[in-house]
Amino acid sequence: MADNATHATANIGVVGLAVMGSNLARNLASREGNTVAVFNRSPERTRSLVSEHPEAGFVASETIEEFVASLSTPRTAIIMVQAGSGTDAVIDQLTALFEPGDIIVDGGNALFTDTIRREKTVSATGVHFVGAGISGGEEGALKGPSIMPGGSAESYTTLGPILSSIAAVVDGVPCVTHVGTDGAGHFVKMIHNGIEYADMQLIAEAYDLLRNTGGLTPAEIGEVFAEWNRGELESYLIEITAEVLKQVDATTGKPFVDIVVDAAGQKGTGTWTVQAALDLGTPVSGIAEAVFARGLSSHPEQRRAAAGLPGPAPLGAITDRAAFVEDVRLALYASKIVAYSQGFDIIVAGAEKYGWDIRKGDIAKIWRGGCIIRAQFLNRITEAYDENPGLVALITAPYFTEAVARAQESWRRVVAGAAQSGIPAPGFSSSLAYYDGLRAERLPAALIQGQRDFFGAHTYGRVDAPGVFHTLWSGDRTEITLS
Ligand SMILES: NC(=O)c1ccc[n+]([C@@H]2O[C@H](COP(=O)([O-])OP(=O)(O)OC[C@H]3O[C@@H](n4cnc5c(N)ncnc54)[C@H](OP(=O)(O)O)[C@@H]3O)[C@@H](O)[C@H]2O)c1
Repeated sequence: MADNATHATANIGVVGLAVMGSNLARNLASREGNTVAVFNRSPERTRSLVSEHPEAGFVASETIEEFVASLSTPRTAIIMVQAGSGTDAVIDQLTALFEPGDIIVDGGNALFTDTIRREKTVSATGVHFVGAGISGGEEGALKGPSIMPGGSAESYTTLGPILSSIAAVVDGVPCVTHVGTDGAGHFVKMIHNGIEYADMQLIAEAYDLLRNTGGLTPAEIGEVFAEWNRGELESYLIEITAEVLKQVDATTGKPFVDIVVDAAGQKGTGTWTVQAALDLGTPVSGIAEAVFARGLSSHPEQRRAAAGLPGPAPLGAITDRAAFVEDVRLALYASKIVAYSQGFDIIVAGAEKYGWDIRKGDIAKIWRGGCIIRAQFLNRITEAYDENPGLVALITAPYFTEAVARAQESWRRVVAGAAQSGIPAPGFSSSLAYYDGLRAERLPAALIQGQRDFFGAHTYGRVDAPGVFHTLWSGDRTEITLS
């Protein structure tokens, strides 16, 4: 290995050869013009990758020094190791050996604030540091992911063509764009994952309602989803939902969905999104409800204790099944519009806070392929931002306004019906509440301001005069003007 590696023959390297790194390295090696250097802390992984894939022509190394020597300049290495301290360890090793102008890419799922910190430290040495969100799981890494790189514009001149060569392609456009500086790429990847949580929760609620209110079997619902996938809801998540629902357990003959423990796991990016949203003061209620719904599902002791709590008397059977299915479809579509609108709101808020020049239409464009939320619908988002780059809320774009107007009666029926039947639909109902809150002429926030002023002299504004006011609640209740 060492002989091969001591010549600087590779234009790109990958450090970390677990499932994501090895698939990404194979994807890179399969593209014209790339020679790929590979390195992993434990050399066994490197050896097995090289022996299983001789066609890739990997330049393999067993020490980090050999790996660095095997890269042509500017040296470019993509780190695909465990997020956290593993990533920091590899960054330190590479920074010590790289020279100014070389590029370190962290392709793992880093928290964007870690990426901002790392970029600051690494770029102080003259080495470029790029936090790149890579979506699409192991299959995406191998066949074409959606890639969201941050870092300097200068580093993207070298990196852009390499990443474009391995990204998914939709309508001839690679699913990669320079998102913005330092942590912008990992921030946008985090929001992608948050939206994914919301989308999955909404789909799950649609299934639950179709089954428990509509009386459809899982296989029938699978057919409904397959049908929906031929219309405006067409997306990867709808497509795989149909497959999962049609699956039958080989051991019991029961629907697969009935033999799976109903406690949803999570790896943390949804939580990060909600934490960031709280910091930024941006409501992402669809994403938050999705994260909390997974949390609720994963507390068996509380669910057992609450199992006997009273619910509503059963409602009569649905009389018009087709109309009910269409109501649920429209409620899903409207709720999904809210979730995406909120997702883009937090991208705007993050961009403002951290000084990133994020082109929203381009983000929707690179999510059209390679990633979990890929969907036809994303074209409509790109069009909305192309038509009006200053759009203050996606939901106010003409296409989405019309779609929600078309859906809202169904949406309201479905949310009301869920409440009356005692079926939890936190995603559907919180999205509707958000929509109604956003469009309300007057909100009860005025009363909250009054309460705040009463107990804490927090002051308030008046609708009929500029300035800051306080009422002397414990005195004669006259109003004073503070500025
Ligand atoms: N799996 C997915 O679907 C997916 C999707 C998108 C992004 N990601 C992200 O991609 C990255 C890689 O994911 P993965 O699932 O392939 O691998 P992983 O299980 O997250 O990490 C295993 C890899 O990290 C290396 N590693 C851990 N600690 C290290 C250290 N201190 N120094 C050097 N190397 C160290 C391991 O090396 P050894 O072999 O020596 O232990 C191994 O190569 C992660 O950040 C993950 O969050 C994963």
